[in-house]
Amino acid sequence: MGLRELFQNHLQTLQSETARTLAELNLDGLVLSAGIPGWYFEDDQNPPFRSNHHFRHWCPMEGSQHILLFIPGQKLQLRLYQPADFWHESKPFEPDFWGDSYSVQIVTDEEKLWANLADGKRVAYHGPETEKARKAGLEVEAEGLLSRLNWQRLVKSPYEIHCLVDATRKAAAGHKAAERSFRQGGSELDIHFAFMQAARSQEQDLPYENIIALNEKAAYLHYGAKRDEVHNGKVLLIDAGASTRGYGSDITRTYATEDAPEEFQALLTDMGTLQAGLVNAITPNMMMGDLHVFAHQRIAELLIRHKIILDCDVAKAIDLGFTMAFFPHGLGHMLGLLVHDVAGKQLDRAGAASAPDPRFPKLRTTRPLQPGTVVTVEPGVYFIKMLLEPIRQGPNCRNLNWALIDRLMPCGGIRIEDNIHVHEQGVRNLTREHLP
Ligand code: GLY
Ligand code: MN
Ligand code: MN
Repeated sequence: MGLRELFQNHLQTLQSETARTLAELNLDGLVLSAGIPGWYFEDDQNPPFRSNHHFRHWCPMEGSQHILLFIPGQKLQLRLYQPADFWHESKPFEPDFWGDSYSVQIVTDEEKLWANLADGKRVAYHGPETEKARKAGLEVEAEGLLSRLNWQRLVKSPYEIHCLVDATRKAAAGHKAAERSFRQGGSELDIHFAFMQAARSQEQDLPYENIIALNEKAAYLHYGAKRDEVHNGKVLLIDAGASTRGYGSDITRTYATEDAPEEFQALLTDMGTLQAGLVNAITPNMMMGDLHVFAHQRIAELLIRHKIILDCDVAKAIDLGFTMAFFPHGLGHMLGLLVHDVAGKQLDRAGAASAPDPRFPKLRTTRPLQPGTVVTVEPGVYFIKMLLEPIRQGPNCRNLNWALIDRLMPCGGIRIEDNIHVHEQGVRNLTREHLP
């Protein structure tokens, strides 16, 4: 199926689901706006602009201030903001695969963008320009609307999967170039540039800031620096994605050279097997929390087998909080238009939330992995001083192998992350189709 047809089907489903939402809430229509760029404090420069993700769900047009109006039974209206401006170029509207799905109006005057949207009807608004929307007579924060818009984002349409596959393809090219740069002794900045060039991306295109950590810096989960003075790393942890039409991939790989301690190389190999085992363990509709618990069990086994945890069985290693110290984040999250996508805790369209898992109250995703969702699977093992030191000072100190931990500390840690499309029959690993 071509992109045009995929998009038309996507939009068709979106319109019928939204018509149902509006009928449930006794509303006549919905307005979504792309949003407006912000400013740095006391500066005439803008931070990179990212459009309203709900707008992107409907329309891949880049740029700011566009407005979309949906009234069930009428052709979708798109007001494209293209001010007369010789300082900046507005991306011209070229009827692409998506353009004929809308009645498009080019608007050069900001006032006119917001004119005649409500027209005496109950039209809801969701987006960042709430003041303008109120002035335009739109209903802002209509009760029950956001949970339904988020609910519609959970199951990805074939069009959305197509976008995620392309975002994966781009990021995979970046990851391969990054690994080459690492093995040639590149700095974090070299590796970053190698990724960006091969992924054909600018910073503002990325779904999230690249995490490119050599050696001990891999222990910072969201490490952001790009050091240029450190070369010839023994370990690289790279967590980097790319975007296509607003959909982002989220991929992590960890590499070690032969100069890394043998124990670390062995741990890395086994983490690869462990991560693949977790992906294979997914069954449609299983609870993400259960997969997270399974990950802790597998990580406990791994740490015991590698003699990092001593004189302990799996249950005790978890109960004493050892696996939490080595693996302190969630196993994964919903992925789509946001890297940590919406509705990870939502159980129905009205917004009922799943109860937090008392074992792991901070998990981002606590819902069933229902067919059609896309989720990351990203187990890790890290050597984080801040989390390990209290154990070293505490009563269970002798259950950890400190000589080995101190040898592995300069390696930082390991994370391996793939993006998984859950469907009725099982799972599709989108990442492994492009990156081993
Ligand atoms: N890259 C952020 C994450 O993996 O959640
Ligand atoms: Mn992730
Ligand atoms: Mn990631």
